Amino acid sequence: MRKAKVDPHVQCIAELEALAGERLAKSVFDYYAGGAGDELTLKDNVLAFDRIRLRPRMLVDVSDIDMSTNLFGCQIEMPILVAPMAFQRLAHEEGEIGMAGAAAKHKTIMVASTLSTCTLEEIAESAKDRIWFQLYVYKDRDITLELVKRAEKAGYRAIVVTVDSPVLGRRLRDMHNQFQLPDHVKISNLRDRFLEQFPVVDHQSGLAAYIASLYDRSLSWKDLQWIVELTELPVLVKGVLRGDDAESALHAGAAGIVVSNHGGRQLDTTIASIDALSEVVQAVQGKIPVLVDGGIRRGTDVIKALAIGAAAVLVGRPLLWGLSLGGADGVELVLDIFKDELANAMQLAGAADIKALTPDLLAARS
Ligand SMILES: Cc1cc2nc3c(=O)[nH]c(=O)nc-3n(C[C@H](O)[C@H](O)[C@H](O)COP(=O)(O)O)c2cc1C
Repeated sequence: MRKAKVDPHVQCIAELEALAGERLAKSVFDYYAGGAGDELTLKDNVLAFDRIRLRPRMLVDVSDIDMSTNLFGCQIEMPILVAPMAFQRLAHEEGEIGMAGAAAKHKTIMVASTLSTCTLEEIAESAKDRIWFQLYVYKDRDITLELVKRAEKAGYRAIVVTVDSPVLGRRLRDMHNQFQLPDHVKISNLRDRFLEQFPVVDHQSGLAAYIASLYDRSLSWKDLQWIVELTELPVLVKGVLRGDDAESALHAGAAGIVVSNHGGRQLDTTIASIDALSEVVQAVQGKIPVLVDGGIRRGTDVIKALAIGAAAVLVGRPLLWGLSLGGADGVELVLDIFKDELANAMQLAGAADIKALTPDLLAARS
């Protein structure tokens, strides 16, 4: 039924992306799809998965597949989370409320962005418990404090601090489009004229100007410790790509790490996040869960990430394609596709549950 609503012929994520490209306004599609600089990291995030080959096990009983796992007390049906993504009302009027509702139906976690276009309280209501809050740290620490306290009160289960964005990456598509939010779309968590919309600047992305004037680019590991001490909630650090930074995160009291290059949207020519995963997994030595995002488009990508040592993955753009094509139903279709592909890949790889997704499933790389 969901498929019929979006497009009865769609079978995989790449087909959904093509459809979304036809239907979305160019400046919105560019903002969602684009990356920084020459978009080399954006492309490599996907290509890096293709370079990894599998060594499936035969004659394993795969009549029952268990994809469930538990993260910080949240029981989830599959190890695929919704990555934090800004401005979802540009895709569909349901915005983050629709995204959260679809994630809840699939019993997985949504990470809601600071830059959401619905309030964090509305999103939590729709998400039914499995909801984490992604935090950008503003220069004005009172704003940061208030966001964390509101998230706690609204029932969020973890705080995800994004550390790869002291400034915005140079996103040429947005610069050419002079990316702006239409009047009816606001940064709803921040009720202030200067905080809920972008400044207008010639020949620049409005988002880049917003971040340049408001985000704290002096942020350092001691500030992370401040955030950890501020809240009872587990704090994850998103945007780590090196073992030594993972150790710093551990030292500052992080409860988890998300290996990420922000979907190739920040520093171009950064290594693909899947290529950074192993170093980070080794550095934390199982002390805290490590998650990864960037370029996950197939069930086989998920089993590769878990075999390297990720506790779970986050998916970004594919869910925006679903949202733009069918609101919450479209997001559910994307999650259906991932779930079916993951089950199929686990069955064919000889892994009946996610604990069986171990490094021996991966071919040695030359
Ligand atoms: C349109 C868009 C908006 C994003 N907004 C945020 C954000 O507000 N906060 C954040 O931490 N990451 C943000 N990200 C990065 C994602 O959380 C994630 O790291 C990335 O999209 C994963 O790569 P994928 O899109 O290839 O799956 C955004 C990504 C996209 C595509």
